[in-house]
Amino acid sequence: MQKRILTILCLLLIACCVLAQQTPQHTADAIDRKVDALLAKMTLDEKIGQLNQYTSDRLATGPLTENSSKFQDIKDGKLGSMLNVKGAKETRMVQELAMQSRLKIPLLFGLDVIHGYRVTFPVPLAEAASWDMQAIQTSARVAGKEAAAAGLHWTFAPMVDITRDPRWGRVMEGAGEDPYLASLIAGARVKGFQGNGLGSLDAIMACAKHFAAYGAAIGGRDYNTADISDRTLWETYLPPFKAALDAGAATFMNGFNELNGIPATGNSYLQKDILKGKWNYKGFVVSDWGSIGEMVQHGYARNSKQAAELAITAGSDMDMESHAYINNMAQLVKENKVPIALIDDAVKRILQKKFEMGLFDDPYRFSNEEREKKELNSPENRAAAREVAKKSIVLLKNDKQLLPLSKNLKTIAVIGPLAKSNIDMMGFWSVKWDDDHLVSLYEGLENKVGKNTRLLYAQGCDVTDTSKSNFAQAVATAMQADVVILAIGEHYDMTGEAKSRANIHLPGVQEDLVKAIKATGKPVVVLTMSGRPMIFNWTADNADAILQTWWLGSEAGNAIADVLFGDYNPAGKLPISFPRSEGQIPVYYNYKSTGRPSANDMGINYRSGYNDIQNSPRYAFGYGLSYTQFALTDLKLDRTTLTANDKLNVSCTLKNTGNYAGEEVVQLYLRDEFASVTRPVKELKGFEKIYLKAGESKTINFVIDKETLSFYDQKMNWATEPGTFQLMIGNSSDHILLKSKFELVK
Ligand code: NOJ
Repeated sequence: MQKRILTILCLLLIACCVLAQQTPQHTADAIDRKVDALLAKMTLDEKIGQLNQYTSDRLATGPLTENSSKFQDIKDGKLGSMLNVKGAKETRMVQELAMQSRLKIPLLFGLDVIHGYRVTFPVPLAEAASWDMQAIQTSARVAGKEAAAAGLHWTFAPMVDITRDPRWGRVMEGAGEDPYLASLIAGARVKGFQGNGLGSLDAIMACAKHFAAYGAAIGGRDYNTADISDRTLWETYLPPFKAALDAGAATFMNGFNELNGIPATGNSYLQKDILKGKWNYKGFVVSDWGSIGEMVQHGYARNSKQAAELAITAGSDMDMESHAYINNMAQLVKENKVPIALIDDAVKRILQKKFEMGLFDDPYRFSNEEREKKELNSPENRAAAREVAKKSIVLLKNDKQLLPLSKNLKTIAVIGPLAKSNIDMMGFWSVKWDDDHLVSLYEGLENKVGKNTRLLYAQGCDVTDTSKSNFAQAVATAMQADVVILAIGEHYDMTGEAKSRANIHLPGVQEDLVKAIKATGKPVVVLTMSGRPMIFNWTADNADAILQTWWLGSEAGNAIADVLFGDYNPAGKLPISFPRSEGQIPVYYNYKSTGRPSANDMGINYRSGYNDIQNSPRYAFGYGLSYTQFALTDLKLDRTTLTANDKLNVSCTLKNTGNYAGEEVVQLYLRDEFASVTRPVKELKGFEKIYLKAGESKTINFVIDKETLSFYDQKMNWATEPGTFQLMIGNSSDHILLKSKFELVK
């Protein structure tokens, strides 16, 4: 008996040890003690070293400032982290240098793993169109797992900046225009990257960026000034950051932008008062690339030394590539300009994460070549990418139910500059691989169609061509086909960091190509491939069918073919408005009414609108069609008055009235009709994505409570006010099918 108990105890002990190796479980207190003990041994220079981050020159993702002897600095304990090192072998090699330093403090390796590491997923804006939190989390999970298996500890993602301006190149990296949807997505992405929590061998640290209001760049020009009210900051730009924090984001990054006169990097209100103060954030803040030094160009700091002082004082813990901390901080401390307590706080935050990641137990635990080989580019990871890619596609138009295409078509003409492109499928901000394979549209179609279907191809023009000399050949090709699939849009590097554009119409002569092909009289399916909303009014009016396919990643062509032939019924919904004209930007669904609300007509009517175009966008937030049809009926509210302590239960019925199984995103919007501050005409407050077979129905329930009805009042308190609310349920922000009202009473 005793022997048996002993055996069980031994087994338990072994199990605990194995588990501990997998996920070093450090309690918060134990880590605090270890951090304090280590801090006590550190010299000032070693402390400052922890606040310093350099790029590896090989993969630089920004301008290189200084060609320092980085490797020597690592051995001297002058570096806390490196970005743009990747791969089990390379990270091990660099970590070995850190192990030669006096205190052997491991480095953190960070990389922009934005939408996949080895397997590329759709660009983040495309994924946002899925309105599918599970899919979005899976995408980040796969990316996290692959990156962790390649020696990485940290991704500079998710970018949770709201933007209302599609001219801004970084629109592709976010979740669009709506704070509610973007907050859910921020949470899903953080959870995906961080998996079961820091310390797990397949989890990497997330980084919510760019704190804050980087997406409010005036004119959509990257890095530009953000000049917004405190109300707009709190109502629109901050919620996704708070959601990322609540989901456990290990790190935050500040921004290149100034906010209302103060650069985000040196902004105490943002980093100290809000993030580390009101929100009680315990992780660390990394600057953006060189953004500490750039406060000199902003005209906010006299020189790099003062920039370092302003940044650390404002709560910016780690200096990415400015060299401002490493070059000036010791002097600033000696001159009593920076209290040592401030340095200690920043160092502690960083060491804390290194302990949580288990790097003090084994600095090489993520750098395992065997694991890397197994995890990267696995069939499962590619399958996941295809799933997410399908879900990201938005059906913008489908006249006469042209789609889905029959698999028995004899001849299909595949035309357009992006029809055979592999590289453009990856989109901006992806990790490049020499032996990568991104499935082009043409290859996806080849994989899909049977032997009896002939695929013809003509390029027509390149993306930015101004010449129409190849149109004739494209037209001749179209003439031989039953249907034309026309792939147009942007090259992968036309939307991304520093890729702002004033003209977001389809580039070059592509829309003329659509006209030429349409003139053949053949049915035309247009695929718009881009990282941003583009403008293509003629195409919108005249193409028979349009699918917004964004940049969908490794499995792009296969996913598009799945949708074209009905193996998957598209269900994506736009996470951002598509304008009619650049002149109406910013155009977004949750605007304010004004005293002379727009009637969405044209002409001089003394209302708030343009004389020459409608106020509405070409495609509204939340818009997207399906191959089937859905009916929304039976709106029920279990009460029409409620107090702030009550819950209002809302239900309606969704029925699939068409011929295909499919998913619909049922969207609930509210309008607070009257309040002490004006409220938007519509705010998304809930949605459900539901799968129904043809003929099937389902009841959908929403709950409205105090939180749903609260807003920042005149004194910027998060509060409710009595009054009436309009309740709207629809399948798009501009297609409301059910309406009611209720009253909040004291
Ligand atoms: C600058 C970008 O703004 C930021 O998002 C990125 O993480 C860094 N460069 C590092 O590449």
